[in-house]
Amino acid sequence: MTSTIFDFVGDNSGEWQVTSMTAYKGNPIESVSHLTKVPLGDLSQSEKGIWSFKGIISNLRYTEKEEKDKLTAIQEDLGRKNATLAAFIPIRKSETWWNLAQDERRKIMESKSKHTQTGMKYLPAIARKLFHSRDIGEAFDFLTWFEYAPADAEAFEELLDTLRKTEEWTYVNREIDIRLKKV
Ligand code: HEM
Repeated sequence: MTSTIFDFVGDNSGEWQVTSMTAYKGNPIESVSHLTKVPLGDLSQSEKGIWSFKGIISNLRYTEKEEKDKLTAIQEDLGRKNATLAAFIPIRKSETWWNLAQDERRKIMESKSKHTQTGMKYLPAIARKLFHSRDIGEAFDFLTWFEYAPADAEAFEELLDTLRKTEEWTYVNREIDIRLKKV
């Protein structure tokens, strides 16, 4: 069975080498040199590294059918050989965000901030996966993961710049931007 639960383990060795760690918003987390994405979500104490964050692959919340079909048609899977760079960006949103109704959140994400519409322009170059953490009492609400080739690094920066200027991002109150290179 494919795993839907993952742990992201920061430590002194691992699958991905950390090239930068920036607390973009809110408190930083301890610096580490490596990160590993571990399926099953069932780590023993000694496997938890310097820190570890747990996330679950869940159902879509806001994506409408037309968007879903489009995404499915063009997005690429993780693990491509030439995607030697990655970004791990844990994010937390404010209580104000979580107190909004579903339709209000969708309106902010899409009608106002055009999250999916913007992101779509960067597919299939950027492969992505969203992990949910809020409902399991983790420090972050989401763990976001992106993989891309060095040739697409600039495009990824452009995408992040655009998203961070949106109304949606005014609800982000903690964001750690960790960049990685395949070992
Ligand atoms: C959620 C698309 C890039 C952060 C989503 C959703 C879609 C999407 C469709 C909604 C999922 C749902 O229906 O529940 C994309 C595409 C991207 C992209 C196509 C292009 C690469 C990014 C980037 C970030 C990001 C660069 C920044 C770290 C998030 C977060 C959520 C999300 C935190 C969850 C938001 C929430 O539920 O409140 N994305 N995204 N995405 N995305 Fe992106």
